[in-house]
Amino acid sequence: MGGRSALPVASVEARLDAFESVCDTHPHVVQGDLTDRDVVYRLFEEARPEAIVHLGECPSAPYSMIDADHAIWVQRNNIEGTMNVLYAMRDLAPEAHLVKLGTMGEYGTPNLDIPEGFFEVEYRGRRDRLPFPRQAGSWYHWSKVHDSNNVMFACRIFGLRATDVMQGVVYGTRFFGSSADHPVDPALHTRLDFDQAFGTALNRFCCQSVIGEPMTLFGLGNQRRGFLPICDSMQCLTLAVDNPPEAGDYRVFNQFEETYTISELASKVAAVASDMGLDPRIRRIENPRKELEEHHYNPDHDHLLTLGYQPTRDMDSEIRAMLEDLLPHHDRIAAKRDVLLPDIRWDGSRRTSGFLDAGNGAGSGSPGEAPNRDQPDQVEPMIDPVLAGAR
Ligand SMILES: NC(=O)c1ccc[n+]([C@@H]2O[C@H](COP(=O)([O-])OP(=O)(O)OC[C@H]3O[C@@H](n4cnc5c(N)ncnc54)[C@H](O)[C@@H]3O)[C@@H](O)[C@H]2O)c1
Repeated sequence: MGGRSALPVASVEARLDAFESVCDTHPHVVQGDLTDRDVVYRLFEEARPEAIVHLGECPSAPYSMIDADHAIWVQRNNIEGTMNVLYAMRDLAPEAHLVKLGTMGEYGTPNLDIPEGFFEVEYRGRRDRLPFPRQAGSWYHWSKVHDSNNVMFACRIFGLRATDVMQGVVYGTRFFGSSADHPVDPALHTRLDFDQAFGTALNRFCCQSVIGEPMTLFGLGNQRRGFLPICDSMQCLTLAVDNPPEAGDYRVFNQFEETYTISELASKVAAVASDMGLDPRIRRIENPRKELEEHHYNPDHDHLLTLGYQPTRDMDSEIRAMLEDLLPHHDRIAAKRDVLLPDIRWDGSRRTSGFLDAGNGAGSGSPGEAPNRDQPDQVEPMIDPVLAGAR
């Protein structure tokens, strides 16, 4: 998307060394494409895993909405990769536990409370426990729904065990240690994207505030979602691995700490950023997506709490830590400011969203008008798997 990680990403070797210094273990790394079955089978033969935590998918809704090539690439990449893992498990690690990353976005925003995967339903006098209907909002989200169905079916026919993690939106820069434990080894910072396709809401708001750009709310900004900091995401995945289900069981965890509207998030970032001497602004822009901007949202998330998940962060201190980590990289983010505003629209067109309000500061633009952007200082080569012919 022409963006890059706001935080520099250290080399694999540097990250492994830093990881070893904290966790006292040196992971073995293999680089390969999960859609290549030979790669997956070789990996399983070498590792003979007891547990597989599968995060390796394209995570972007906007990317999947660009056009038919991108939609089909995302679906093939995600669904094929997971199918290869399921067959490798059947053939080489049938006792292993699959922890598969799904997304809360699989459920959409029904006008009902959202259970964890399944619900009791009565229809024409008969009752059953059935998968809760999924109403995904992008081709990417549907790829995760298809994955969920495939994982559930594989558990039934192959007797595999799996935890399907409906994860909320993840934010934060720090895997290890609380804010109080700062400084954290920069080699352990996660990658943090801020472009329209791969950046997530709170991460993008922090990057926008660091470089003096307005935080941009899509439409009314009343869309409500579940969020959790990345260190707690790691805690939840660890809990899932440490507490595997029985053979043949397919279980679903809704993994988030709390729900917030997008406006509430922006207000939280604004309060912390102001306190740190920044000049945050919030603006509403045309919503490039087709989604409800006001809706009921009350998902359950008891399974992980029952296993012992304890949220370790309050969002304000995590936002402060993020801003502290991002401020030294102001120039790195500012040089790519033109990737912040969305132009991928759910109707298939490409047009930069205009502002819906009059703004409250210099450079705010006019209602309905796309702002002028400085050209980036440098343009890194874009590697687009579709255009590069990787699939
Ligand atoms: N970040 C979030 O807020 C969030 C929320 C819900 C679910 N998730 C899920 O969590 C997982 C990780 O997401 P992330 O945000 O860390 O994204 P990310 O892009 O940082 O990580 C995904 C990784 O998967 C790799 N990958 C993609 N296709 C692959 C393939 N065919 N073979 C090998 N590797 C492949 C990518 O190179 C990348 O390193 C994804 O499954 C995503 O759908 C993320």
